[in-house]
Parts: sequence; structure tokens; C-alpha cells
Amino acid sequence: MSNDREVLIKVRNLKKYFNIDKNIYLKAVDDVSFNIYKGETLGLVGESGCGKSTIGRTILNIYKATSGTVEFKGKNIYELKGKEAKEFTRKAQMIFQDPYASLNPRMLVSNIIGEGIDIHKLLTGQARMNRIHELLELVGLNKEHANRFPHEFSGGQRQRIGIARALAVNPEFIVCDEPISALDVSIQAQVVNLLKDLQEKMGLTYLFIAHDLSMVRYISDRVAVMYLGSMMELANSDELYENPLHPYTKALLSAIPIPDPKVQRKRERIVLQGDVPSPINPPKGCKFADRCPMATEKCKNERPKLEEVKENHFVACHYWKEAEKRI
Ligand SMILES: Nc1ncnc2c1ncn2[C@@H]1O[C@H](COP(=O)(O)OP(=O)(O)O)[C@@H](O)[C@H]1O
Ligand code: SF4
Ligand SMILES: [Mg+2]
Repeated sequence: MSNDREVLIKVRNLKKYFNIDKNIYLKAVDDVSFNIYKGETLGLVGESGCGKSTIGRTILNIYKATSGTVEFKGKNIYELKGKEAKEFTRKAQMIFQDPYASLNPRMLVSNIIGEGIDIHKLLTGQARMNRIHELLELVGLNKEHANRFPHEFSGGQRQRIGIARALAVNPEFIVCDEPISALDVSIQAQVVNLLKDLQEKMGLTYLFIAHDLSMVRYISDRVAVMYLGSMMELANSDELYENPLHPYTKALLSAIPIPDPKVQRKRERIVLQGDVPSPINPPKGCKFADRCPMATEKCKNERPKLEEVKENHFVACHYWKEAEKRI
């Protein structure tokens, strides 16, 4: 399905290592490759610390990559200069997990939303103010909210302000970094629905980061699963949930309760042994080998590559065929 679609973002062999001490590197993102197609939502899931935010920041050029390339519409973003570089900072935006920490408490909402409009010299005076009012309404707030400060809002409303700020500069691509994780469960669906509506109206492309698999299925066209800086599996959402191939994805999914008791009983619950290893000194072969119920000597020595094993279904596991049958 996605093969004939336009690639908006092409990530190849991306590494982001943090130099945390003399000659000591933390491998936050360790050689990942994937595409994001125009108009889609790519979900990115994995446990805390597996490198999701670092991927998001590196493909927005907030962090400089250690190596590898990120192309936006066919151009390497790390080589953009002058006007083109500035245009990229407008076209690619971010929505953060904690809407309170990411909004300056001393700024009026109008100036928070207007900041990008000013930086990119999009509008001034009354036209600027009208646009800010329009954006507030677009995200389900109203124009009276423009003259208030962030602390006067609820968590869900603050996230709406964060969304309006991202939209203010007419972006094409938005990294949504756990935008609902800090919100009450009752509010989460509202914010997800808002993001879906806005995507349709404005033709946006999203990278939607989440640490659990439940809400991601609903918003994403495709889902990628990360583990310790590596991408383990990538498939269309329904396919990933109904036919997971990687032992780690299977373990993550087995932890989600299924409403249908018949299906629930049939599905084996896989409890992961041990802890996630350190990204400073990750296992030399498959990163999941220490915890995988199927690991062999080969797994410990040879790192499996992410490969397309079925149409639009990528997996990084030497034994995905056996895993498909066994667990
Ligand atoms: N600025 C940084 N400096 C050093 N280490 C970092 C930095 N940012 C993240 N890390 C480390 O990189 C790894 C991935 O972090 P992150 O991308 O935030 O994971 P996630 O978003 O999946 O929770 C973690 O081990 C984290 O401690
Ligand atoms: S490569 Fe080996 S250790 Fe890694 S997930 Fe597959 S079976 Fe498990
Ligand atoms: Mg994060």
C-alpha cells in the first residue's frame, strides 16, 4: 500500500550517540532506517529510554546526528543552509509530552502561539491576532483564551495550546512526542481525535511517539517498535497487532488485556525476564538476546537487520518464521 506513496521523510542508518564521558558513548539511536509517507501517521513505540524522543529530535535537526542521513522531500536536512534551513524549521514542528513544561509560564497564550508567526515573519498586527484567534478555535479553545497565561488552563487545554503553537506556522510534518501520556485517560481520546481531525483538514504527516501500544493503534497507519536504540519491527497497524512477528513485539502485546476473553485465553502471556541492558554497552548481537525466550548463539553474535519479510512488514529477527509459529 505505502510503496506507491510519496516519501516525505527518508531516514537511513541514523545514529545518535551521546558522548557522556571521555570515550564513553551512549547509543541512544543505533542505526535505524525507515520512511515516513506523506499524509500518514507513523506510530513509534517502545519502553522508556529506548530512543524514541532522540529519533524525533534528530529528524527535526534539534540534535545533530552522529551519522546517517535524514531527507525531507529528497534533501538531506543536515546540509540545508540559509533560507532552506529556516524553512525546514517552519515545516517540521514538534508537540511535547508535558504541555506545562513546554509553555513559558510568563508568556500570554497569544504570544506563545504568535512566536513562530513572528520568527518566520508570516503575519503582523491585526492579521496576526486574527490568525491566533482562528488557531485557538481550530483546536477547540476560544479567542478570550489569548489573553491568559498557561497556568489558567487544564492539562488538556494546555496541550491544545501546544498544538495551536505547532500549527501556527503551517507545518507539513509534526513529531508528536507522547502528546497524551501526561493527560487524564478521559482527555486522551479527545486530544487524539483533535490530532486526527487536524491531520485530515491540513494534510499533515505525523510521527506519533508513545510508550504503550494501546492508543497508538487507533491513530497510526503504521507502527514501528523500538528496543534499546534499534528498530525491531515495522508494519501496518492492524498487521502489527494481529500478526506480530518479533518476539519483543509479541511480549509487549501480550501485556495488553484483550476485551474478548476467548482471544485472551488463547494468547500466551509472555513475561520478559531481566532488565533492558545499558545503551552504553549494548549486546553485540541482537539487542534483545538477553531477554528473548528464543535466543541462540547466533543471536548473541550477529545483529539481525530490519528486513521486509512480507509486503510492508519489516522485522529484525533471525528466527521470525519460528517465532510466528511458536509464540
Ligand atoms: N541529552 C542527552 N544526553 C545524554 N543521554 C541522553 C540524552 N537524551 C537522552 N539520553 C539517553 O538516551 C537514551 C534514549 O533516550 P530517549 O530518546 O529520551 O528515550 P525515550 O524517548 O524512548 O524514553 C536514554 O538512555 C537516555 O538516558
Ligand atoms: S534475533 Fe534471536 S534474540 Fe533477537 S529477537 Fe530474534 S530470536 Fe530473539
Ligand atoms: Mg521520550
